[in-house]
Amino acid sequence: MQTPTIGNNIKLAASLLEAGKLVAIPTETVYGLAGNATNSETVAAIFAAKQRPRFNPLILHVGEIKTIEKFAELNTIASILIEKLVPGPITLLLPKKDTVPDIVTAGSNKVAIRIPNHAIALELLQSISFPLAAPSANKFGYVSPTNALHVATGFSINEVSYVLDGGQTNIGIESTIIEPLADTIIVHRLGGTSMEEIKSIVNVPISFKTNATQTPQTAGQIKSHYATTTPLYKGDIGTLITKFKNKKIAIISLQNSYNNLQNDITNYILSNDGNITTAASKLFAVMRSIDEQYFDIILAENFPNEGLGYAINDRLNRAQVIYKT
Ligand code: TXA
Ligand code: MG
Repeated sequence: MQTPTIGNNIKLAASLLEAGKLVAIPTETVYGLAGNATNSETVAAIFAAKQRPRFNPLILHVGEIKTIEKFAELNTIASILIEKLVPGPITLLLPKKDTVPDIVTAGSNKVAIRIPNHAIALELLQSISFPLAAPSANKFGYVSPTNALHVATGFSINEVSYVLDGGQTNIGIESTIIEPLADTIIVHRLGGTSMEEIKSIVNVPISFKTNATQTPQTAGQIKSHYATTTPLYKGDIGTLITKFKNKKIAIISLQNSYNNLQNDITNYILSNDGNITTAASKLFAVMRSIDEQYFDIILAENFPNEGLGYAINDRLNRAQVIYKT
């Protein structure tokens, strides 16, 4: 399989996108698999390359705040949040205008829209005359990419024409998805903007529709997400470790290291000083790196429920072996 070319030519990326091709783009969260959102053949090619079901809608990426109103209806809370948080690791779910093709939103009358806070992405978005539909640039169900090489190793050049290199993403976890309503906010995905930050801006009730803790009724009912090929178990490491003997184990932790005599253990500490934001930025790269080696299992700690810790726990919960089909 010939992998896509990696480079930093923004003009080339723009012209490929204008021609209806798919280009992987950097953002501050994770890399996106981008295409012209107004070209339904291109959008269909995104679903195909990602092997993603057509009923799972895509986020619309734009380069300027004033452009949001071209595609979505704003309300007061949305406008306040945009003023304070955009561009940034946040996606707003809003009533869509007819300018957004139905294939992007999978037929929904709401569109998820965001402006990435990344210089290269912004320059690209501001140089083209159409919005970009972009899911995370990984095959459906796998760990999201946080550098250009992650993307290039996951796709062939027939699927992705070019990977625009913007370095290692600094947030490292996908955007938070929220739906601002008249007097409440619904959180659809925990992510790179913390709940604490949102609450400090707008003082309205927040409810969750993330299914983060939902356990499938039958194991295997739900396709795992963010999942490594190596089976991953999350919880109290001391308890988990006693269940496994003679295994080669990778342990993902915030700052603790673990050892025992029954197993061959390698510790992957995400932040020596226990900084949860740093930990989030390293998580996906560590999961991918472990997966490229020969470990029998991955054990992951429960991270502290504060700041981006909620999003880390959400991703690790969903990566667990129980969710696998
Ligand atoms: O940080 C991010 O958001 C990255 C970068 C590339 O921007 N994008 C990303 O896209 O994570 P994706 O497709 O991997 O995840 C987007 C999520 C999906 O779970 C999808 O179901 C949800 O957003 N979504 C998109 N449009 C929606 C809509 N109209 N209604 C409800 N959910 C929507
Ligand atoms: Mg994704």
